[in-house]
Formats: sequence, C-alpha cells, structure tokens
Amino acid sequence: MSSMIIDGKKFAEEIRSEVKIAVEKRINKGLQAPGLATVLIGDNAASKVYVRAKHRACEEVGIKSLAYKLPASASQTEIETLVAKLNNNPEVNGILIQLPLPAGLNEEKVLGTLSVEKDVDGFHPINIGRLAQKGRESIFIPCTPAGIMVLLEKAGAKLDGAKAVILGRSNIVGMPIALLLLKANATVTICHSHTPDLASETRQADVLIAAIGQPELVRADWVKPGAVVIDVGINHVDDPSTKRGYRLVGDVAFEEVSQVAKAITPVPGGVGPMTIAMLMRSTLHAARLADKLH
Ligand code: GUN
Repeated sequence: MSSMIIDGKKFAEEIRSEVKIAVEKRINKGLQAPGLATVLIGDNAASKVYVRAKHRACEEVGIKSLAYKLPASASQTEIETLVAKLNNNPEVNGILIQLPLPAGLNEEKVLGTLSVEKDVDGFHPINIGRLAQKGRESIFIPCTPAGIMVLLEKAGAKLDGAKAVILGRSNIVGMPIALLLLKANATVTICHSHTPDLASETRQADVLIAAIGQPELVRADWVKPGAVVIDVGINHVDDPSTKRGYRLVGDVAFEEVSQVAKAITPVPGGVGPMTIAMLMRSTLHAARLADKLH
C-alpha cells in the first residue's frame, strides 16, 4: 500500500489566497489593512529565517507588517514596554513574539503582557488556558497545531473516537495539538523523553503526530497500517551529495512509513507552509475582532 501524500504547500496556498481576497474586500469597504507586528529578539538564525518568511507572506496577502528587532541583551522591561506600545497601537491587530527568547528572559511574563485580542499565536495564558478547558474557546489557536488540524481534515482523518498519539510535549506544538485533538473527541496519548517504549505507543495510533525533533525516528514498524501520520519535524542532516551539504528530513522515515500509512505529510512541503498560512488567517481574524471592539 502506498500513502496519500498530504500536500501542505497546496493547502497553504489556498488559505493564503482566501486571506488575500478577504483583505482586498476589507480595503474596498474602506476598512484598514490588517496589521501584524513581529518581535524578534536576539540572533537565532532559524528565527530570523521564520520571521522573514512571515513578512514575505504578509506582503503577498496585503497584510501590513511591522518588524521590531531587539538585541539579545534587551531587558525584560524593554520588551514589555514594546509589547505595551504595540497593544495600544490601533494599526497593529496581531503581535507575534518569535520564540525561543534568548536565555535570561521570562517568556511566560512577556507572553502574559500581550493583549489577548492581539495574541495571534494563541500563547497568552488566557488563550492557552481556554483551549485546555471543556466548553471554552480560545480567541486564537497556535498556528502550527491549527495547520495540522486543517491537514487532518483534508486527509479525511476521523478524529472522533480515534486514538491519537503525539510525540513531543512542547508549548508550541505538542501540548496544543493534544488539546485540539482532545476537543475533537480523540483519545490522546502524549509521549516524551521519559516514555519508556515509544514504538509500543505509536503502534496503537490511528493518528500519529511526530513533533520530537529527532531525524527519521519513526520507522515503518512503529506505525499501524492505515494510520494518518503528520510529521512536524524539520531536521538538518549532513549530506555531502547535495549542494548545501545537508538535507532536511522530518521525524518520520518518509519512504518506509509511506508504505504503511493511509496518509502522510512530506518534509518539506507538509506542516511547514501551514504555520504561516494560519498566521495570516489569524491576523485577519484579529482585524475583524478589532472592527467589532472599536
Ligand atoms: N517558534 C517556532 N514556532 C513558532 C511559532 O509558531 N510562533 C512563534 N512566535 N515562535 C515560534
């Protein structure tokens, strides 16, 4: 059996073009373009690449983007002062603080100073808290998990009553995707570095989410035949045969697992493009919310 390849690049393009049309409609009605402020602190190379890609996507869909950069030496107070200023700027509908923050800064406190209505990443304690509670809805859902839910829907994955297994418990992916799958009535297992036998857990999964940051950890015999597999990993592995000297692989051994799974995301071109598409959608949502609030 060969899997359906879940084309994240295509679905992300569809979402971005929906956002673009909606932004044009707003502007034609005399409403302001949605505004996204990004805050990049320090010199993390991957963060710089991600933030640049976010600004490029904003430009493409007509969202106004504002880039704020602070040195790794910035103080907690300087960052919180900047966030307060952005909270009060009516041109800014969404605020994204790129994570991880440099060592020594209090991430929880920085995220707690965000206006809940501008927290397009869904990382403010109130948004994440609402996601964790029955019968409550957060205003925003973290972008990568939100993108994964779209991909699961596109793959026709049945979530109600399914067994979902997640490898990884990060605040950005593992934990919020677990909460979303639980809200969708899946029975959820979260595995991590202290789980004694990962494969015995993953073999039971109807839906398997790999977000553990270990290149090609998940092998064919870790996967139940017919499972839907979502690979969140982006790992650089040395490969002298390529021009760049490395290649990107996920947390799943794609070639062999695609012989077993019903559907699988590729790396690159699976989950990655969805994160930014969902950020565009969330920023539009934030602008619509601001229309109602003011
Ligand atoms: N770092 C890695 N992924 C993300 C994300 O989705 N949002 C933010 N703010 N930082 C990240």
